[in-house]
Formats: sequence, structure tokens, C-alpha cells
Amino acid sequence: IDISNFRSLSKGVITIDPGFKNTGSCESGITFLDGEKGILRYRGYSIEELAEKADFLEVAYLLIFGELPTKEQNDKFHEDIKAQAVVDEDVKKILEAFPKSAHPMGVIASLTSALTAFNPSSVNVNSEEDMYKSVVKILGKFPVLVAWTYRKKLGLPLDYGDDSLGYVENILKMMFRKPNGEYKQNKILVDALDKLLILHADHEQNCSTSTVRIVGSSHAGLFASISAGISALWGPLHGGANQAVLEMLEAIKDDDGDTKKYMAKAKDKEDPFRLMGFGHRVYKNFDPRAKIIKKAADEVLGDLGIEDPILDIAKGLEKEALEDSYFVDRKLYPNVDFYSGIIYRGMGIPTDMFTVMFALGRLPGWIAQWREMRLRKEPIGRPRQIYIGATERKFVPIEDRK
Ligand code: ACO
Repeated sequence: IDISNFRSLSKGVITIDPGFKNTGSCESGITFLDGEKGILRYRGYSIEELAEKADFLEVAYLLIFGELPTKEQNDKFHEDIKAQAVVDEDVKKILEAFPKSAHPMGVIASLTSALTAFNPSSVNVNSEEDMYKSVVKILGKFPVLVAWTYRKKLGLPLDYGDDSLGYVENILKMMFRKPNGEYKQNKILVDALDKLLILHADHEQNCSTSTVRIVGSSHAGLFASISAGISALWGPLHGGANQAVLEMLEAIKDDDGDTKKYMAKAKDKEDPFRLMGFGHRVYKNFDPRAKIIKKAADEVLGDLGIEDPILDIAKGLEKEALEDSYFVDRKLYPNVDFYSGIIYRGMGIPTDMFTVMFALGRLPGWIAQWREMRLRKEPIGRPRQIYIGATERKFVPIEDRK
């Protein structure tokens, strides 16, 4: 469809659709999702196959540029990213100014936005070449910001990565390297993180991605658009669910593992509590990512020799929900984040960093969607409304107001 047709059709009837449950905001060739059948594909490739056979950087390339890279394309892409894997030293001063107690999502959103100040040329994007520069910059710098956010919390020195390593291996090393530089690579952790990042890499027009597209539609630069996406992701109804799931499972454990009590709370319409990690706006069947993650959680914890009672509580809760008519009737199944926190915890990542790890995974998706929106020359996003406020009123001076 020629998008210019929409411009001429844009006057007239206004539809109201709270939460945009039935409103398509764009045409997109990136991610296919069939929520009834539980199918997810990136650029036509099934999520199951990509999670098993591809690595995260290949998937990032696929999402952003539309094709799986050749070996040469992949190497060049990685080299271009590595060349950008530094941030201005002054960014450390901004990071230092945050209290230790600051939530990492607030920190990473601010630092991502701050990148615009240190890379002013990234704000004006006029060609595909400009876009490419912004793309490799953010893919290079974001993992550094993630590692620094984590290290700052723990009071560890802030340094850079090791460009002899793969993209994901390097992220783990940047995070977990000891102050004396010591670091032992663990292939189980690298593979697990690679898989988790792939599973989170895109999910069509969710809340954070729509935010990235709408902010980018004003021609704000990529970094500002991504920063807005990070803020949208933070909420517990979206990416923040992975943190909320773990906190809920911990609370159940501390409550003698009483899953029934929490099931009852979730079903009580007077109680605002929801079973975190259950339900999805689009999936009315099993979230295919949740199936992969559940298996990965078993494997990773098994390989690492970790016995986590939280995993047993999660499995118990899932079983109960799948047999409960409240959840069955509403088609509420575990979503991607029901099990991801258990793996992150097994990897030694603190709970309040979980959503940052999600952002790391979603980064290629946000980039791909922003790039698609700009290449398609989409108009500025500007929904309408139905006004329900006061009718015309006469101004009353302050001394006469009651
Ligand atoms: N626990 C209990 N009841 C629930 C839950 C839940 N987790 N999720 C939905 N419901 C109920 C609602 O109360 C509603 O019931 P009703 O029909 O009796 O009023 C019905 O199921 C439909 O729910 P909606 O809120 O209308 O569904 P919506 O599509 O707007 O929300 C959402 C989807 C936000 C994911 C919701 O299911 C939820 O809050 N889940 C918990 C948070 C979560 O896990 N978020 C992560 C989503 S995945 C992601 O972002 C990566």
C-alpha cells in the first residue's frame, strides 16, 4: 500500500480504541505473530529455529536489514559495532551522580538519552548511511552502558570490553570481570544469554516498540527514541514483568509456598494483584518463547548445578493456572517473562537488572522498527481523541473564585 494514500484519507471519522486493542499503527515486514496459534517469526524465520541455530548478532542483522548475513556481512557488522564500543569518559560523571539505590532502568534510559549529547550528529538522520552510523553506534555503546550500570551498583570499576570476543560473550565479560581483571568464560551462560536475547529481540508493535516508532516519527534521533522505548519497557505490565515475576515467586516462597493464596488473589476482582508473567495482549495460546525459556531454565540450572526452589514454585503455579477455569477461560498462559528471571537469577544477575537485560535483547527490534518507519517515510504519529471535558466556560478572576 502506498502510504501517501493514508495522508489523504486521514480526515473524518475518529475511532476510539483504548489500548489500541484493534488498531494497526503501521505496516511492517519485520515480525509475524499469530497469537491464536502461538506462532512467532522474525523476517519469516521461526523463533524456535533462530533460538536454536542462530546467534544474537545474526538475528540483530536479520531484523534490522531483512536478511540473514553472509559470513562477510556478519564480520563487517561486528567490526563496525566493535569500533563504536566506547562511550565518552564524561558519561561516567553522569553515572557517578546517580545514587546507588537508583533503579537500573532509570539509569540506562538517562544514559541512553545522554548519548545524544555526546553524538550530536546522530540527531539528524537524512540517509541510509546516517542510519547505519547510528545503528552500529547504539549496538556498540549500549552494552557498555548496561555493564556500567550494573558495575556502578556493585561499586566495581567501569572499564571497556574485550574485542577479541563475540558480542554476547563480551557483554558477560564486561559485567562480570573482577576488579583485578580476572574472568572465566562459561559457555553455558553465554549460550543461555544468547538465547534469551534472541527470544526478546522483537515482538512487533508492543508498548515500547510503538513508543520508539512514535517518538522517531517526529524525526527525533535513534538514541532519543530508544531511550523513550526503555522507559516504556520499564513498567510491570510490559518488560518490568520479569522483575515482578521473581519478586512474586519470592513472596510465595516466603509465604510457605502457598500458591493457592496467590491464585485466589489474582482471581479476586476487588484485589488489584495479578499473577505476574501470565497473560498477553496478543497471545491467546502458549507464548512460543515461554516454551523455549522453560526448557532453557531447566537446562541452564541443571548444567550449572543449581537447585532453585523458585523454579519449583513457578512450575507449580503454571500447572495450577493451566487447570483453573479463570485462567483457561481468559486464555491466560505464561508469557516470555515467567521463566526468564529464573535464568537471569541463575546467572547471578540481580533482580532489578532483569528488565535492563530485556532492553539489551529488544534493542535490535527497536532499531529495526525505527529504521523501517523512517525508510517508509511514515507521517508523524498523532492519535486523535474524543473530548469529554467541560463545555465553554467564562474566565473567573482569582479573587472572585470560590
Ligand atoms: N492475572 C489475573 N488476571 C489477569 C491477568 C493476570 N496476570 N492478566 C489478565 N487478567 C484478566 C483481567 O483481569 C481481565 O479479566 P476480566 O475479563 O474478568 O476483566 C482479562 O484477564 C483480560 O485482561 P486484560 O487486562 O483486558 O488484557 P490486556 O490484553 O489488556 O493485558 C497484560 C495484557 C497487560 C499482559 C495482562 O495480561 C497482565 O497484566 N499480565 C501480567 C503482567 C505481565 O506478565 N506482563 C508481561 C507481558 S509480556 C511482555 O510485555 C514481554
